[in-house]
Amino acid sequence: MAATPATQPLQVLGIAGSLRRASYNRQLLESARRLAPPALVITPFDIAEVPLYNADHDTDAARPEAVRRLKQAIAASDAVLFAAPEYNHGVPGVLQNAIDWASRPAFASPLAGKPVGMMGASGGISGTMRGQQALKLVLMSTLALMFPHAGIAITLAKDKFDAGGTLAHEPTRELLAVYLADFERWVRRQAALPR
Ligand SMILES: Cc1cc2nc3c(=O)[nH]c(=O)nc-3n(C[C@H](O)[C@H](O)[C@H](O)COP(=O)(O)O)c2cc1C
Repeated sequence: MAATPATQPLQVLGIAGSLRRASYNRQLLESARRLAPPALVITPFDIAEVPLYNADHDTDAARPEAVRRLKQAIAASDAVLFAAPEYNHGVPGVLQNAIDWASRPAFASPLAGKPVGMMGASGGISGTMRGQQALKLVLMSTLALMFPHAGIAITLAKDKFDAGGTLAHEPTRELLAVYLADFERWVRRQAALPR
């Protein structure tokens, strides 16, 4: 990965781990997009069209178009930022499935060496921390580079987002803004490291 000059905007692919239209995690990603520093450009990628993984279709000739787009978008980005709920203390199936597609060929996929960050919002009091631990394990297997940070784990989401889907809780907005600024600095450092 070539060094990214501090003046050049970083391109971050945002992936939400929920397909629900009013998803808190989609709202979190959108709020992050708006709160990000000017040189951290977050572009959401919708994984709704990614079909279930089938190794028979994971060939250059047969790979589904949505998977091609996903892998190209990851490859073209400086970093990936996930916003995911916790499902049964783990990674939601739709997100695990998208990562499975993106993770091939093993250790040489677009995720290998890619800086990644993660956030989550849940309606309950766990704030997706168990899901984030599970997501870390999955991403580690792809050789993605994990942003070493305590993370963004939003509890009691209905109290933090307004009716329009904006993260309205001021202390959480401030936390998210700091996280994104730290993420930008860290991604730039990764880009500058010799490989
Ligand atoms: C299949 C399923 C499993 C869930 N498991 C958990 C869980 O383990 N822990 C938790 O805090 N919430 C769990 N929830 C609740 C979700 O965190 C909550 O629905 C959240 O709002 C979903 O994220 P979204 O708003 O981005 O769609 C689960 C929901 C579903 C549908």
